[in-house]
Amino acid sequence: MCGIVAYIGPQDAVPILAEGLQRLEYRGYDSAGLAVVGRGGELKVRKAKGRVHECVDALPARFKGSPGIGHTRWATHGEPTDANAHPHVSGTVAVVHNGIIENAEELRAKLTADGVEFSSETDSEVLAHLIARSGAAELEEAVRQALTAIVGTYGIAVVDSARPDRVVVARNGSPVVLGIGDKEMYAASDVAALVGHTRQVVHLDDGELAVVHAGGFRTFTLDARATAKQPADIEIDAASYDHTGHEHFMAKEIHEQPEAVERALRGRLDPRFHTAHLGGLNLEPREARAIRRVKIIGCGSAYYSGQIGAQLIEELARIPADAEPASEFRYRNPVVEPDTLYVAVSQSGETYDTLAAVQELRRKGGRVLGLVNVVGSAIARECDGGIYLHAGPEISVASTKTFTSTCVAFALLALHLGRIRDLSPSDGRRIAAGLRALPGQIREILAREEHIASLAQELSRSPGAFFIGRVRGYPVAREGAQKLKEIAYLHAEAYPASELKHGPLALVGPDLPTVAVLPDDDLAGKNLATLGEIRARRGPVVAVAHTAPDPKITENVVLVPKNEPELDPILLGVPLQLLAYHAAIALGHDIDKPRNLAKSVTVE
Ligand code: AGP
Repeated sequence: MCGIVAYIGPQDAVPILAEGLQRLEYRGYDSAGLAVVGRGGELKVRKAKGRVHECVDALPARFKGSPGIGHTRWATHGEPTDANAHPHVSGTVAVVHNGIIENAEELRAKLTADGVEFSSETDSEVLAHLIARSGAAELEEAVRQALTAIVGTYGIAVVDSARPDRVVVARNGSPVVLGIGDKEMYAASDVAALVGHTRQVVHLDDGELAVVHAGGFRTFTLDARATAKQPADIEIDAASYDHTGHEHFMAKEIHEQPEAVERALRGRLDPRFHTAHLGGLNLEPREARAIRRVKIIGCGSAYYSGQIGAQLIEELARIPADAEPASEFRYRNPVVEPDTLYVAVSQSGETYDTLAAVQELRRKGGRVLGLVNVVGSAIARECDGGIYLHAGPEISVASTKTFTSTCVAFALLALHLGRIRDLSPSDGRRIAAGLRALPGQIREILAREEHIASLAQELSRSPGAFFIGRVRGYPVAREGAQKLKEIAYLHAEAYPASELKHGPLALVGPDLPTVAVLPDDDLAGKNLATLGEIRARRGPVVAVAHTAPDPKITENVVLVPKNEPELDPILLGVPLQLLAYHAAIALGHDIDKPRNLAKSVTVE
């Protein structure tokens, strides 16, 4: 969703802002804009609906300067139009804003009554006017005062051509990171925009502001108390943000899964006690033993990975566990129990619904662990402890490697909890060996890509598909259907195979293929019986299976290597990613930026 970049220093800010905004494109946006302070002290602003490169290509050669701020907008208040694009300007002040100002209407009414004329329909514009009208001598004080009038979430960057030696940034619920250069400074809403320039960053906390000069920065709180920040190193290099060697980020990320899983496991398996060491859990063995229930929350694919996680925890640790969409959980006034362990799942660590659910849980005294990919993200910081996925940046909107890595992190958590409770050493050894085998087995599946692509070609010609699985296979089917919907734009529904005859079977026929998740487990016979019912109605079947079923059922089979039954879902999901990817290629879609979707959903 929306993105912010800012620069102050001796260079012309424009190419730096343009490059930073392009690195944030993956988050999804509908318009872009820049503001810089020119050499003569004039404020130059350009903003337009459309792509970053369209906005930048249209800049006149004299559009140069420093400091500067840039923005990519995802429309919330007001249509995607040139006027609603950021920056918003009031006098000498220009502001870019991520987030939502909840009392914008009230503030807008007051400002209008005072004679302010608005030039956009956005909530963000009120900030520009509040700052410009503050009367404070220093820009940072004007911003601080304006923010005290705001109810809502924000990540902002502000320049003032009357005070061109500084940029002021602030964060509340929407990330802001400072990047430290050599006599120059950067700021952004995502480290992706900074990796080409610096390795040293400072994450602002909620309720924190920073006044940034070319030579350094100072941070303080909304009530004007100074804060002390320690710079951290970015572990990711710029190459992680391009897809050299692959046609799309999604393809690159699918193929990175063996290494991503190796990183998720690195240093975490204990061969002596056949358990997992998870340093960041902040959970004493005595506390782990006292857990009576595990509740997992997340959105979209994160929620489906949570369903796989819940089964792993129930099976290995014998603790009742279930998963629920975070977006629903937060609104049903859940009973928060002291002996329940809550687990929030989020690749980005920014998803607003998940973040709000975590905050509600913490407010009620719940203990929350985070399974998060982005280090230092809002959800990671909000939790009591957790497990970082270490999957590396995921740029494609469709989650693939982080889905797999989340399942692996759940397996580690289940192993850890299980070995503190009743999981035997031999079962611990069995699961640890299974986990170690995963990277090699994923490589085996990826080697079958050409075959999967040919099945996808055929699937792409259908109006949609059913995805079925049972128990361990059901969340895998749900995630497979989600992938096909997201990028191939084909209608896809997932059902437990057992539910088919209770309704959906009415739709089965020659035009509706079924993708079946078919592990060799206790339910294999029942799954095959369901496939027989589908074939009796001439429904085409694609099977993702450990063993090829009778060719009368289908010859369209992707074979998947067997692991331990509890870990099989992790492998069964991989061919479904490739199936969706190649169906979307066959249909000629924008793979990495599917229509209507954003990588991080930072609004409700
Ligand atoms: C998955 O392909 C989607 N991008 C989406 O469902 C995603 O998993 C969901 O929005 C949650 O995102 P998060 O993991 O960053 O919280």
